[in-house]
Amino acid sequence: MKVTVVGAGNVGATCADNIARKELCDELVLLDIKEGFAEGKAMDMMQTANLLGFDTRVVGSTSDYSKTAGSDVVVVTSGIPRKPGMTREDLIGINAGIVRDVTENILKYSPNAIIIVISNPMDTMTYLALKASGLPKNRIIGMGGILDSSRFKYYLSQALKSSPNDVHGVVIGGHGDTTMIPLTRLATYNGTPASNYLNEEELEKVAADTMVGGATLTKLLGTSAWLAPGASGAALVEAIVRDEKRLMPCSVYLDGEYGQSDICMGVPVVIGRNGVEKIVDFKLNEKEQAAFDKSAAAVRNMNGVLAEMSILA
Ligand code: 2OP
Repeated sequence: MKVTVVGAGNVGATCADNIARKELCDELVLLDIKEGFAEGKAMDMMQTANLLGFDTRVVGSTSDYSKTAGSDVVVVTSGIPRKPGMTREDLIGINAGIVRDVTENILKYSPNAIIIVISNPMDTMTYLALKASGLPKNRIIGMGGILDSSRFKYYLSQALKSSPNDVHGVVIGGHGDTTMIPLTRLATYNGTPASNYLNEEELEKVAADTMVGGATLTKLLGTSAWLAPGASGAALVEAIVRDEKRLMPCSVYLDGEYGQSDICMGVPVVIGRNGVEKIVDFKLNEKEQAAFDKSAAAVRNMNGVLAEMSILA
C-alpha cells in the first residue's frame, strides 16, 4: 500500500505523522513545492520511527510527482490556510488553481488513486477536483465532516462532562462556519439521547460552538488548526486502506440525495477500499432539510466562482 500526502505544512505533516504511526502503508510520500521542506519533514518523521516503533517508509519530495507513482490514496492539503478573521471561502482565489494542478499531476502518476481533499474551501475544492479530473464520484472525497463531527463530539463531551469516547454525533452540510449542520437531534451519550441530559439551549450552544470551532482555533493559534484536521485526514485514509466500511460524514458528489444535485457536500457515507461505497440518504426533519438547502445554496454560490475565475468551464 502506498499513500501520498501533498502539502507538508501543518495539516499535511500531521496527517502524514498519523499515517506513519499507524502503519497504514508501506511507503508514504510527502510532497511540497518549498525546496527541501518535505524532505526535511520526512527525515524528521523517520527519526521517530525507532522511538515509536513504526515501519512505514516516509519519503519527501520537492514537486517531483514521479516519486508519488502508484499511490493507492492521495491526500491533498495544498494551499494557504486561513488567518484570523478570514473565512475558508476567502481562500478560493489562491487555492483553486493549486488544487486543480495538484490533481492533474497526481493522476499522471497514480491513475487509480482515491483522492482526499482537505484544502479549503473544501466542498468547492472537492467539486473542482471531481470536475477537473473526470474521476468517478466514489474516488474523490472531501474531508471536513469528520473534523467537524470530532469538534461536535468535543463540545458535547464538555457540556455533558463526559469522556469524548462516549458521545456520538454527526455534522453534515458544508464545511463552513455558517454552512455546517451539527445534528443535535441525533446526538447520543453512549447510545442514550443527548437531549436527556442537555436542554435545547445547551444543545444550541454546542452546535454554535462547533460551527465556529475552526475559527476559534484560528484566533487562538494565529493560523488554522492542524492536529485534529491531520488526524481526521488519517482516519479517512485508515478507513480506505483497511476497508473498514466506516460510516463517516464526508463531502461527496450528490446526485439527488438529500434533494441536491451537481454539488459536493457533507453527508454520511460508507467508506471502504473503493472510497465512497454508499451514500446514506436518511430523512432529515423539516428544519434540518431547510438548513441543508440553505447550506447547498451557499456552497453552490462558491462553486460559481470557479467558472468566474475560468478555473472550471
Ligand atoms: C479547520 O476547520 C483546516 O478547515 C480546517 O480547521
